[in-house]
Amino acid sequence: MTPHSTSSNRHSRITGTGSFLPPKRLTNDALAAQLAADGIETSDQWIVERTGIRARHFAEPDVSSSDLAVAAARHALEAADVDAASIDLIIVATSTPDMVFPSTACLVQQKLGVAGCAAFDVQAVCSGFVYALTIADSMIRTGAASKALVIGAEVFSRILDFKDRGTCVLFGDGAGAVVLEASDTPGILASELHADGRHVDILCVPGHVNGGQILGDPLLKMDGPAVFKLAVGVLYDVAKSVLEKAGRSDSDVDWLIPHQANIRILQSTAKRLKLPLEKLIVTVDQHGNTSAASIPLALDESVRSGKIKPGDTVLLEGVGGGFTWGAVLLDL
Ligand code: ACO
Repeated sequence: MTPHSTSSNRHSRITGTGSFLPPKRLTNDALAAQLAADGIETSDQWIVERTGIRARHFAEPDVSSSDLAVAAARHALEAADVDAASIDLIIVATSTPDMVFPSTACLVQQKLGVAGCAAFDVQAVCSGFVYALTIADSMIRTGAASKALVIGAEVFSRILDFKDRGTCVLFGDGAGAVVLEASDTPGILASELHADGRHVDILCVPGHVNGGQILGDPLLKMDGPAVFKLAVGVLYDVAKSVLEKAGRSDSDVDWLIPHQANIRILQSTAKRLKLPLEKLIVTVDQHGNTSAASIPLALDESVRSGKIKPGDTVLLEGVGGGFTWGAVLLDL
C-alpha cells in the first residue's frame, strides 16, 4: 500500500457507484412452482405479505461472487471516472466467498488486472458493506489509502436450503460497489459498528471444512422472528447514535437505505425515525435479500435512476448474522 500524508481535514467521499445482478430472475410464482416440484408449498401472496419480496436474481452455477463483484466494480470505476490501476485498496464484503482462501478481494484484484494494492474480505454477513465502508473510510482518513473499491457481493443461492420455505424464499444474488476517494470535504460524516456474539445461533451457516469434508450443515439456518425483533431495535438505536455523532438530526436525512431484508423491518425503522416512507429506498421487492450486496445495490440503483442526487444526505444501515449491525451517514 502506498503511504499517504494525513491531515485533520482529510476525509473520504463516494465518487462513483455500480452494481450487477445476474440475468436469471425468478418471480415468487416461478420459485413457488420450482419448490412445489419438491413438495414444498408457498405462494406469491405469503411471500409478498410477510416480506414485500416479489422477485430475486440467482447466479448460474459457474458464476461466483468475484464475477458479480468485478462487474459491479467496473460500473463504479466508470461512474467515478477512475482507472482501476489507481485503486490502492480493495475490500469485498461477502459471506459467500469463491474459496476458503484466498480472499474474494484478491480474486477481484486479479480479474481487474491491478496487482499490488491491499485487498481483503470482510465477513459481517448482511452488515458487511457498512463494515467495509467504515474500514475503508478509516484507512483513507489515516492516509493508509486514497482510492478504495468497496464491494458487497453474494451468491446466497448457494447456501439456501430449498426444503426450508421459511428461508429459501427470502434471499437473492447480486453485487454493488462504490469508489471511495480521499477528499478535502467530508463525504462520510459518521459511522458506527456493533456485534453481539451471544446471538450466533439465530442466523448461521454452521458447516465447515474439516479434513476434506464438510462437517455440520452447510445451509442457512434462521430463527426469523428472533432476527426480526433484534433488527428493528438495533437499526433504530444505531441510526440515532450516528446522527448524534455527526451533529445531525432525523430531518437532515434525505434518504434512508437500510439493509434490504424485509419490507416490514424497513418500514418500521423509517417510522421509528419519523422519516416519511418516501425517503425510504426499497429494492427488496425486486432483489430479495442479497446480504452484503443489498445496500450498495440499492444505492447504485437510486443514484442511476436520479432519485439520490449529489449533495444528498444518505443514511446506510446494516444488520445481519453474528449478530452484527452498524450505520454510515454520508453526504453524496
Ligand atoms: N410460504 C408459506 N408459509 C410459510 C413460508 C412460506 N415461504 N415460510 C413460513 N411459512 C409458515 C410457517 O410454517 C408458519 O406456519 P405455521 O403457523 O403453520 O407453523 C407460518 O408461515 C408463520 O411462520 P413465521 O416464521 O412465524 O412467520 P413470520 O411472520 O415471522 O415471517 C419471516 C417469517 C418472513 C422470516 C420473518 O420472521 C422475517 O422476516 N424475519 C426477519 C428475517 C430477516 O430479515 N432475515 C435477514 C436479516 S439478516 C440477514 O439478512 C442475513
